Amino acid sequence: MLITLWLRIGALLGKTLLLLLGLGLLIWALATAWFAWHHSGPVSAEEQIPPGEAAMTQDIIQTAVRIVDQHREGTRYLRDAHAKAHGCVKAEVQVLPDLALPLRQGVFAEAGKTWQATLRLSNGNAYPQFDSIRDARGMAIKLLDVPGTQLLKEQQSRGEQDFVMFSHPNFFVSDVAEYRQNVAAQANGKKVMAFFPSWDPRSWQARHLFIALATLAPAPASPTQTTYFSVSPYKFGTANAKFRVAPDPESCPIYNLSTQNQALPNFLRSALNQQLSSDRVPACFVLQIQRQDPAKYMPIEDTSIEWRESDAPFETVARIKIPAQDFDTPALNLQCDNQSFNPWFGLEAHRPIGGINRLRKAVYEAVSDYRHARNAEQ
Ligand code: HEM
Repeated sequence: MLITLWLRIGALLGKTLLLLLGLGLLIWALATAWFAWHHSGPVSAEEQIPPGEAAMTQDIIQTAVRIVDQHREGTRYLRDAHAKAHGCVKAEVQVLPDLALPLRQGVFAEAGKTWQATLRLSNGNAYPQFDSIRDARGMAIKLLDVPGTQLLKEQQSRGEQDFVMFSHPNFFVSDVAEYRQNVAAQANGKKVMAFFPSWDPRSWQARHLFIALATLAPAPASPTQTTYFSVSPYKFGTANAKFRVAPDPESCPIYNLSTQNQALPNFLRSALNQQLSSDRVPACFVLQIQRQDPAKYMPIEDTSIEWRESDAPFETVARIKIPAQDFDTPALNLQCDNQSFNPWFGLEAHRPIGGINRLRKAVYEAVSDYRHARNAEQ
């Protein structure tokens, strides 16, 4: 009697489990099909500005300044993001001597030209935390003495072209509206729940939570040993493109970095210092662009979408060399802190496009002005 009962319960449990598994598989298949259908080309090759973006931008500036204030702890006023630098280094950016004609755009117009540049390498966090903590890593490049009209009217004297990147190919939000909601929630101490703003499942952003978690990656052995992505799109002449900077060890002398003590708070700075200053070995990268094919799913207005390399390959347009140098001095580090990098410092040929870039136009300037003004008062 008891055995029969147990067998019945077992069979019922087995059937329930099978049913749940089947249901799970069905939901997964439907979600995959919906995702593939929803995320397929063609897409627009033009920007599409939603209403209310300017007002949301003002709101985000308030949050960004609040974050700068929150992370001060008696120090100087730091950046709202990428507060901690591993160093600012001098670099040479050489346009490929045999660059194909369609790729000769903007600062890449003259094949073989070498630009002098400054590079700032950083951690992503707003707080200058230990390098061993999972984080995005940033690279900002500033080409110097760039002739031509600058995009920002009031920045004409700069003569710069900046490329601002971090170490993950896509962003944890799609657009300005989502950024506003998510970052305000994060500034109020929410973490995972920032991606689930209400009880309405349509507002849940599980995929974006996974992107955020993947962006916060373990540290590379050195800032010279990871790839940095523009994440958001830019003009490239008349085309639209994303760009990235990847290590190119074949263009530099063979170098094996000695193992760094990763328990030390600033071991990424030590790694950079070891290579460039102690061992006097240069570091090499390639700068590559990925042109949009609007027939494919390569949207301009959604930074959470990585443009697939199978849809459009990355093409090398320049080589970057960071020569051996002594960058880690108090004077140079202060100068590094006081620099401003901004995707909008540059030429029309490389105009930032898409909502997240339109947002960055106002926010980078506001935060940079704020921290410079407050530091000057001290
Ligand atoms: C496309 C995605 C993004 C990338 C790749 C990116 C990357 C970077 C990097 C590398 C820096 C450090 C620049 C330096 O070394 O000085 C930086 C700074 C900064 N980022 Fe972003 N960022 C992105 C999106 C955003 C967004 C959406 C916002 C806010 C609206 C934002 C706000 C800032 C601010 C305020 C700074 C500091 C500016 C300063 O004080 O000079 N970023 N970002």
